[in-house]
Amino acid sequence: MEEKMKVVSFTSLPVWQQKLIFDADEARRHSSSPYSKFKVGAAIQCSQPNTDPVVVYLGCNVENAMYVVTHAEQAAINEACLNEPEKPYIIAIAVVLPAETIDQHALPCGYCRQWIREFGSDDTLVLGAKLNSAGDIWQVEVVTLEELLPFSFGPNNLGK
Ligand code: THU
Ligand code: ZN
Repeated sequence: MEEKMKVVSFTSLPVWQQKLIFDADEARRHSSSPYSKFKVGAAIQCSQPNTDPVVVYLGCNVENAMYVVTHAEQAAINEACLNEPEKPYIIAIAVVLPAETIDQHALPCGYCRQWIREFGSDDTLVLGAKLNSAGDIWQVEVVTLEELLPFSFGPNNLGK
């Protein structure tokens, strides 16, 4: 494992990462979460950084009255599968959610980590953008999937 999580300001990020976070924030506006009232947005980049065209898929969390929920990351992965001709590969994923303190992370839950593993690799970049009560991104957590899900079980275990 190479690096530990970096916690940085939004403006210190490369422009392509800032754009991916903005896309996730836009997706977050579509969240339908009347039960948790916790809006999450995700944006998946499937194209290499700084190449044209930029291929991004969006997702938001959606909840129903049985308290069954679709997570934003999972929704974005579904979009990628719908639109890519082959199995999508996640270069980077941005997640935007409310997180006001240092110990509230803005990173995908365990369930979503396994979904990202399916369509990513140890090197997949995960950007967790933390919103304050004013709705501003005050901090971004930058990690690899390997840091979030070390020693993972994945498609390679099944020869895929
Ligand atoms: N949620 C996500 O969309 N992604 C995560 O990784 C964490 C949780 C959603 C699910 C539910 O609608 C709300 O946030 C509260 O758990
Ligand atoms: Zn999740």
